Amino acid sequence: MGHRAAIVGAGHTRFGALEDGPRRLLRTAIDAAFASVERGADRALVHEAFLATIGFGGWQLGNVAAVLGEEAGLSGVPASRIENACASGGFAARAGVRAAQGEPGLVLVAGLEKMTDVSSARRRYWLGVSGDTEWERAAGLTFAGVYGLIASRYVADHPRAADALVEVAVKNHANGALNPNAHFPKAVTAEAVRAAPRVAEPLGLYDCCPVSDGAVALLLAAPEEARSFTDSPVYIDGVGAGTDALAVQERPELTRFGATRWAVDAALRQARVDRSAISFLEVHDCFTIAELLALEDLGFAESGEAAAMTLDGATARGGRLPVNPDGGLKAKGHPIGASGVSQLYEGFLQLRGAAGRRQVPGAERALAHNVGGAGATATVTVLSAG
Ligand code: COA
Repeated sequence: MGHRAAIVGAGHTRFGALEDGPRRLLRTAIDAAFASVERGADRALVHEAFLATIGFGGWQLGNVAAVLGEEAGLSGVPASRIENACASGGFAARAGVRAAQGEPGLVLVAGLEKMTDVSSARRRYWLGVSGDTEWERAAGLTFAGVYGLIASRYVADHPRAADALVEVAVKNHANGALNPNAHFPKAVTAEAVRAAPRVAEPLGLYDCCPVSDGAVALLLAAPEEARSFTDSPVYIDGVGAGTDALAVQERPELTRFGATRWAVDAALRQARVDRSAISFLEVHDCFTIAELLALEDLGFAESGEAAAMTLDGATARGGRLPVNPDGGLKAKGHPIGASGVSQLYEGFLQLRGAAGRRQVPGAERALAHNVGGAGATATVTVLSAG
């Protein structure tokens, strides 16, 4: 198998409603990434940099690549902003892998969002910019509304799914309780999930990811150079990406995301592995229904079987295929541009055996899945311990 790039360092802020502004968050994650490289990493070695962000709230509407350079202490380095809604992080990592291949030195991939410093009306506005603004938004649909429609369809087709949605929330909060960076590091009971206020039927508060601040940074190197930085690099072996119609009404089915299906095929083909080789998944559970769809679109469950798989405990941390050991977007939080990068951070920790109390025993290979909007853009990344 040919490794495509290696992660040699990584940094992560806490996720949540934080005091720090966007520049401070970015700087904290980047400084932590450089500090984590065991054999040291000189900033002068960085030859390209990418920043995933939608610039939520309008803190800096354009040209944030220059801010990345300033906060990272880089000068003269080509830097670019990557914006593909909630999949910005996955697409930035994909660009980073391409830049790292065959080039000596390092590539910086960062993800950032500052979301909690605006009013709830403005939050709805900024979340809405990533959906279809001509039809869905004009009809009054929020993202919770679109996923609520998808969940209604799925539960009507597969009645066990109503209980499985509750289980996804309980499981991801149980995992998040072991993650010191999580927005909600606390477990919740099935009763609390069922009794929570409704947001968009059948989804309640605990079916939704929160609105979070946070930043994550990765340092990538060409695979053949990785060991000059660390004895335990984590390799990126495949990155697939796909897009689909922006509005769900333009797609043949509500409960299948074509972008994920194209992305996973490409990622597994590049990595030259099949699904049985994957030890755990990081999936884009922006709403609990999204985790069930992901299991099916990624090909780890037959159509309609994701509910049974979840209720059987297969996706729990000690199960056959742990899903979202870091708490997922549900409990860890979802600072838009940072989320896809954070999934790879979790892969980096787990595959080095450094995930502490939430370590997946014997993890050798991970698959991370990042989605933008209600399935309009997606990436899938396959990681290995080498
Ligand atoms: N899960 C669990 N608890 C949550 C929560 C969530 N998703 N969101 C908020 N809370 C808690 C808060 O911590 C707060 O608790 P406290 O009273 O003990 O302090 C309480 O609920 C109220 O928080 P508030 O921020 O006022 O909630 P809200 O009603 O404004 O927002 C949602 C709740 C679910 C509407 C909001 O989190 C949301 O829009 N989430 C989806 C974000 C999204 O669409 N992202 C893009 C995905 S594609």
